[in-house]
Amino acid sequence: MVKIKLMGLNETEKFGQRLGNLLQGGDVLSLTGDLGAGKTTLTKSIGIGLEVKDYITSPTFTLINEYKGRVWVYHFDVYRLEDEMDLLDLGYEDYFYSNGVTIVEWGDKIEDILPEDRINIRIEKGKELDERIITLDGEGDRYRQIVKELNIN
Ligand SMILES: Nc1ncnc2c1ncn2[C@@H]1O[C@H](COP(=O)(O)OP(=O)(O)O)[C@@H](O)[C@H]1O
Ligand SMILES: [Mg+2]
Repeated sequence: MVKIKLMGLNETEKFGQRLGNLLQGGDVLSLTGDLGAGKTTLTKSIGIGLEVKDYITSPTFTLINEYKGRVWVYHFDVYRLEDEMDLLDLGYEDYFYSNGVTIVEWGDKIEDILPEDRINIRIEKGKELDERIITLDGEGDRYRQIVKELNIN
């Protein structure tokens, strides 16, 4: 488990891009944290690292937005999900086990159906207004390696 302090949007942007650069098709990220913690903000920056040109917005009401980057990027937000059947109807497995990158906001809500191998990212507000504390946890060899790399510099 790795903790990283992000002071201001600039550092969040840099961090997100670095993470996005390291990702490849098939990767899965679960983002956890309160409303306003910065999950969508971080996703935007990860998108830049994945060469998404479109403006990434929160899929709170649509459950999923898809973006074309260097690979497909599937951005879920399951905050308003009341019934996992809605995800079944969407064919979530085709996304989670695909050649694209899947990013799930509020992933902890659907932990039981997320692939076990993934990167868990918790975002919390810090002491300062624009401070965020990120806790990273990689499950599986590939993801542990990515987390290790992110911890350097
Ligand atoms: N270091 C930071 N990292 C991310 N967001 C930050 C940071 N500092 C301030 N913010 C602000 O916090 C808010 C996060 O909102 P958002 O990303 O929509 O949160 P969430 O998706 O977790 O509900 C934004 O208004 C953003 O500008
Ligand atoms: Mg959000």
